[in-house]
Amino acid sequence: MTARLIDGKAFAAGLRERVAGVAASFASSQGRQPGLAVVLVGEHPPSAAYVRSKAKATREAGMESFEHKLLADVSQGQLMALVDELNADPAVDGILVQMPLPKHIDEQEVIQRIDPEKDVDGFHPMNAGRLSIGLEGLVPCTPLGCLMLLQHELGDLSGLDAIVVGRSNIVGKPMAQLLIQASCTVTVAHSRTKDLPAAVRRADIVVAAVGRPELIRGNWLKPGATVIDVGQERVEQADGTRKLLGDVASSEAMEVAGAITPVPGGVGPMTIACLLRNTVVAAHRRAG
Ligand code: GUN
Repeated sequence: MTARLIDGKAFAAGLRERVAGVAASFASSQGRQPGLAVVLVGEHPPSAAYVRSKAKATREAGMESFEHKLLADVSQGQLMALVDELNADPAVDGILVQMPLPKHIDEQEVIQRIDPEKDVDGFHPMNAGRLSIGLEGLVPCTPLGCLMLLQHELGDLSGLDAIVVGRSNIVGKPMAQLLIQASCTVTVAHSRTKDLPAAVRRADIVVAAVGRPELIRGNWLKPGATVIDVGQERVEQADGTRKLLGDVASSEAMEVAGAITPVPGGVGPMTIACLLRNTVVAAHRRAG
């Protein structure tokens, strides 16, 4: 059996087009474009690259991009003051502070300072709480993108057994909440799970978000399972080249799974598309 590839790149392109349509109608009714502010602290190269691509995608969707670059030694107080300024700015609908932040900054304090209505990352405890009790709010971008791909692939998810491997606040926990709401039976596995292969083998849906390259092997999977691979780590190969690897051993998984997201071109493009989607949602809610 050869698994179908789930084309996240194509799905994300469609979503970005729909978001651009919504942004255009917002601009014509409100007399301004939806606005997304992105804050980068320091020079962490992957973060700088993410921030550049987020800003470019924002402009391409017909939204205003506000970029704030702060030095790595910025104080907690200076960063909080910038968040306050962005909270108060009527042109800013969404605020994203790129993680990770330097060690001397308290990330939770920063997240909790962001106005929950502008929290397009969905990281604020208010939005995390709303998600957990099924109220409308802003949902973290990566798990939202994963859910969209699963629903596109499988339709109704109700009654399916799902496993989320990884329990981060950014992906694992909100992913589990979304799958519970979609009426899946959900297992959350992590580094202390006793028999991970056996747990994975029970699942119709596997969402892998542990950040351990190729941890999940093909022979762990239930035949026909749908696999969403959130991992993307650059790993040096024997020949010295660097290859982007997911959390799932993809060539093995291709022989067993029913469908799988490739790395790259699967979940990655969905994260930015969902960020743009969250920004137009936030803009509409703020405009009433
Ligand atoms: N760093 C890696 N992914 C993300 C994300 O989705 N949001 C923020 N703010 N930082 C990140």
